[in-house]
Formats: sequence, structure tokens, C-alpha cells
Amino acid sequence: MNKRIAICPGSFDCITLGHLDIITRASAMFDEIVVVAMVNSNKNYTFTTEERVNMIKKSTADIKNVTVDSYEGLLAEYAQSKNACAIIKGLRAMSDFEYEFQMALTNKKLNPQVETVFLTTSAQNMYLSSSMVKQIASMGGDISDFVPSVILGDILKKLSPKTSL
Ligand code: PNS
Repeated sequence: MNKRIAICPGSFDCITLGHLDIITRASAMFDEIVVVAMVNSNKNYTFTTEERVNMIKKSTADIKNVTVDSYEGLLAEYAQSKNACAIIKGLRAMSDFEYEFQMALTNKKLNPQVETVFLTTSAQNMYLSSSMVKQIASMGGDISDFVPSVILGDILKKLSPKTSL
């Protein structure tokens, strides 16, 4: 039987416990999960593509059926190139809904073979976002409840407020 492959796309700038929760739950639903850090040349990322990919790899190292990649281009085309049957997205508050709905319909139009599957975020991650994590870290706050512990050092190295002499 064909393997059921699903794509978990995102900016992952940086990966949070909210992302990891969605990836972990998706990994129990499909044979293989490809987590892909999308590259948009019009977007200013805090972390380089390599850093984003490395942080995802470290965070998902314990999940056997997860691989990590990066891609610049249309998600619908990437999904096709991987023979994926699904795109997994996490839904937080209502504010995510309209944009996610629009992307799901666009991706369905571009690649009718692939279904977008929404997983509701776990309650504790309802308001968690990469930008919030970065803001807290850059102001010297504690982000250890928000990101996988294996990447805490990578984030702080880049974002901790520098102490001036
Ligand atoms: O983590 P994010 O920033 O919410 O992820 C958004 C992402 C990268 C999944 C989305 O912007 C995307 O799929 N980009 C690829 C470009 C594309 O396929 N655009 C057409 C469909 S809307």
C-alpha cells in the first residue's frame, strides 16, 4: 500500500512548542511527515533557512517518521513533488481562520490531489506565536515554556539583549 505522506509547512522562525505539538499529533495520523521551512524572498526572517531547519531537526529528532526540508516556491507544487496526500496546519484563535481558509482553498485549486487538514491547537498554545517568543527573548524574558528545550540556546544566542560594558 502507498505510504500516506503529509506536509507540515511554515516559516518556523522559530519553531515553538505549539508547532511541535501539531507535528507530533500529525505524526500519529500519517506514515510520514515532511516538515518544510518555506522560503519567501520577500520576507525578512530572524533566523536563516539553515538555522530554521536545524532547529526543527533538533526539536523533532525523537519522532521517527519526521523528516525536515526547506523549499522556495509554491507549497502545492512541493506537496506534489513529495507525493503528499495532505497539508497539515495548526489553527489557533479565530484570527488564523480567514487566512488559513484562503490558503487552503488556493492550494486545493493549485493541487486538487492534496487535502488541507486543520488540527486545533492545544489550549495552552492558543496564543503562542514565534513573534511573541522572539519579542520576549529579545527583552530578556523567560521563553523556556514556549520552545523546545533543545533549541533554547540557539534562540538566546541570537536574541538575548546584549549587555553593554
Ligand atoms: O508559519 P506561517 O508563516 O504561517 O506559514 C505560511 C506558509 C509558509 C505555510 C505560507 O505562506 C505558504 O504556504 N507559502 C508558500 C507560497 C505559496 O504556496 N503560496 C500560495 C498559497 S497561499
